[in-house]
Amino acid sequence: MSQAQTVTEVKGYIFACTNKTEKECFDRMLFSTNKIYAEKALQVKKGDMLFLLNLETDVLYGPFKAESDGKKDIVPEAWGGKYPYQVVVEKSDKTAVCKTSGKILNRLGVDWKEPLNSELTDILVELLKNGHDNGGSPLNLQFIVPKKIRNLQKPADEKPTLEATTLWDYPRQSYGKTPKGNNRYAGVTPAFILYNMIKRYTEPGDLVVDPMSGSGTTLDVCREENRRCIAYDIAPPRLDIIQNDARHIPLDDNSVDMIFIDSPYGDNIDYNSHPGNIGKISAESDEFYDELEKVMKECHRILKQGKVLGWLIGDQWVKKKFTPVGFLIYQRLCKYFETVDIVCVTRRNQTSNTGMWYNRAIRFNFYLRGFKYLFLMRKDSDKKEGSDRTKVNWTQYSREKDSEKAHASSKKNEAQE
Ligand SMILES: C[S@@+](CC[C@H](N)C(=O)[O-])C[C@H]1O[C@@H](n2cnc3c(N)ncnc32)[C@H](O)[C@@H]1O
Repeated sequence: MSQAQTVTEVKGYIFACTNKTEKECFDRMLFSTNKIYAEKALQVKKGDMLFLLNLETDVLYGPFKAESDGKKDIVPEAWGGKYPYQVVVEKSDKTAVCKTSGKILNRLGVDWKEPLNSELTDILVELLKNGHDNGGSPLNLQFIVPKKIRNLQKPADEKPTLEATTLWDYPRQSYGKTPKGNNRYAGVTPAFILYNMIKRYTEPGDLVVDPMSGSGTTLDVCREENRRCIAYDIAPPRLDIIQNDARHIPLDDNSVDMIFIDSPYGDNIDYNSHPGNIGKISAESDEFYDELEKVMKECHRILKQGKVLGWLIGDQWVKKKFTPVGFLIYQRLCKYFETVDIVCVTRRNQTSNTGMWYNRAIRFNFYLRGFKYLFLMRKDSDKKEGSDRTKVNWTQYSREKDSEKAHASSKKNEAQE
């Protein structure tokens, strides 16, 4: 076997747990994860080497052997159904503990979210066997990690990080070895957005629809992440995109698990000359919002209850006039959907990112568009379709009550100390 094959071969997996979930892992001899890391769990084959990492205490347990392949719902009721991607683990009396694994994994360049190649698997087995936590000889990383095989956990393909805040900022349009969409297509969507949405709101095998898919970014990300995808466009630039007007989507009611739309933001980009192209209508006219509302209505019809739609849109500043396209679109979306959240996506790769435009913006006292909105909306059974309910249900929040609570809990802690 060649060196290249040796280093990319996957042999081990680290599963994560918390203080709350750890006991159940051992009681059931079952390791698990949620849909975010579903692919990793489904990749596990019977006989693979497994480790369990408590993310709160940094304790690493292992090695274990997988007694089953990774599957969904081996024990559906485990952890109250929260972690359905599971693998059965063989009982072993050779299980060891490493109490300071955080630092060590970091030095080894190991990311628990990624599969482990055979070298790293062997190193972790060795680490647990010889680690000082187990009364063995003191840990000598120089010894157990020969220089040439450090940092070998190169994932098969680069994957984006999952976003935890509502500000998403990407240095480029795509990631990984294969292109996602076409970065020369005017108005192409950053593939990172699709990756984040798919990971958060769908599971492997789910159906994703992009009714205005342009160069096919959604389709490419879905394929790589094992989601089914139907991509439409009024003027498809690729054969695997179906020609269709987004105001009438040929799918059944309640049949889709997630929808993503990066619609035209007005008539600023000349996408194509198709008469049905909504990108020919000015965002300063009501007609633009009326036509896009027809698309929203269709999205609402085909989406399953409780599932999510993402709508990417930017504002407009043209000929000294500002149009809050985002707010106007959001208002229409609220007629059909409940808001999950609003994300701000930094605009980077646009034609106005030049010194000349910078000078103009300062000289003529206007702003260049710096962000787009990503409206994350949910189809909610309680919301009557088309009801003009843009009213916000305010969450009650009282500073007084909260500070009283904090005071009471610090008193309790003091009493325990
Ligand atoms: C911002 S682009 C989408 C970019 C795409 N997400 C990508 O990554 O390449 C908007 C797309 O909407 C399409 N479009 C405009 N009107 C449409 C309609 N009525 N039905 C379907 N697609 C339409 C345009 O052809 C254009 O490709």
